[in-house]
Amino acid sequence: MRIPLIKPFIDERVKRRVLDVLESGYLAEGPVTAELETICRDYIGCGHVVAVSSCTVGLEMALRCLHVGPGDEVIVPDYTYPATADAVALVGARTIIVDVDPDTMLIDYDALEAAIGSRTKAVIPVSLFGNPLDYDRLLEIKNRHGIYILEDAACALGAEYRGRKVGSFSDITVFSLHPRKFITTGEGGLLATDRDSWADWLRSYKKFGMETGKDRAGTVFRRIGTNYKLSDVLAAIGLGQMESVKRLLEERRYLAEKYIRLLKDTGAIRLPKTTTGGRHSFQSFCIFTPKRDEILLELRRKGIEVQIGTYSLHLQPAFASSSQCEHRNGFSGSNFAYSHCMTLPLYHGMSEGKQREVVEAIVSCLGN
Ligand SMILES: Cc1ncc(COP(=O)(O)O)c(C=O)c1O
Repeated sequence: MRIPLIKPFIDERVKRRVLDVLESGYLAEGPVTAELETICRDYIGCGHVVAVSSCTVGLEMALRCLHVGPGDEVIVPDYTYPATADAVALVGARTIIVDVDPDTMLIDYDALEAAIGSRTKAVIPVSLFGNPLDYDRLLEIKNRHGIYILEDAACALGAEYRGRKVGSFSDITVFSLHPRKFITTGEGGLLATDRDSWADWLRSYKKFGMETGKDRAGTVFRRIGTNYKLSDVLAAIGLGQMESVKRLLEERRYLAEKYIRLLKDTGAIRLPKTTTGGRHSFQSFCIFTPKRDEILLELRRKGIEVQIGTYSLHLQPAFASSSQCEHRNGFSGSNFAYSHCMTLPLYHGMSEGKQREVVEAIVSCLGN
């Protein structure tokens, strides 16, 4: 596409980092992945970060770590990428799907609280598109009902709430490093937690259940595990990008502000709301528009890569009501987002001219 949705940030430092790994001859998970974990931990401001091969496996691991399984219920928002709910099904728990707020597209906190029952073990709220959750509300609910908050922050690296970064509020927070994210390792994910014992469990589980003592002879396999490691080759990309994370995020916010000004001048487009007290990372820049599908096709025809926001789970065959999946109440918020939300191109180095072109193309479609 002539104007892409996002471009990975690959500068000379990123290339050097990858080449260093290739030249070292050690390509599996090792010291570079450990360095990425440390730099991300310090950036987020949490106790531990564990790198894994994707956000989806990270969510599954987090549920296993919290002993969520058959007989338990986990509440998820209807408007999200299906991976949020896939993780629940993968561990054999029952998925309870609730609506989202039509303005923020984040989980409806009243619907969430109403859905909590005696079998509810956890909720997976999603800081969707980089819009942080209302953690004051969530933590009140957690304290009232004693459930875990396992956050799907796939798109929210760098987002903040009341001056603290996403990743420092929930019991376990999982980020994605997929190439649609501004910090990417090609494929990858990060788990953030403050609890030492959970971090130890996650590190062991992703490495076949291994626990390593001071020397090789001290290695034992403590539990059944798997291989969800992130190789040093991939970690090197993210590590190189993390050196520029502040600048890259500032640029995303600057470009988002520019879109907001340009769109305001048109008077035709409504924007989603950012959570009160939150600072959006604008991983995705979303608008609400009528004639969304027509506009989407017309912009793509013009070489402008636009995308729907994300999906309504209750409309996907995989999450139709069954013994393992239950829909609670109506989905008016999610239905609205699924039919009106569109994501605009926003990438490092995007010129004002290109942003104007995107906005003018939308306005021209709306006028027709
Ligand atoms: C909300 C949400 N959760 C989970 C995922 C899955 O992330 P990954 O591709 O790293 O597994 C995505 C992907 O974009 C997402 O948007």
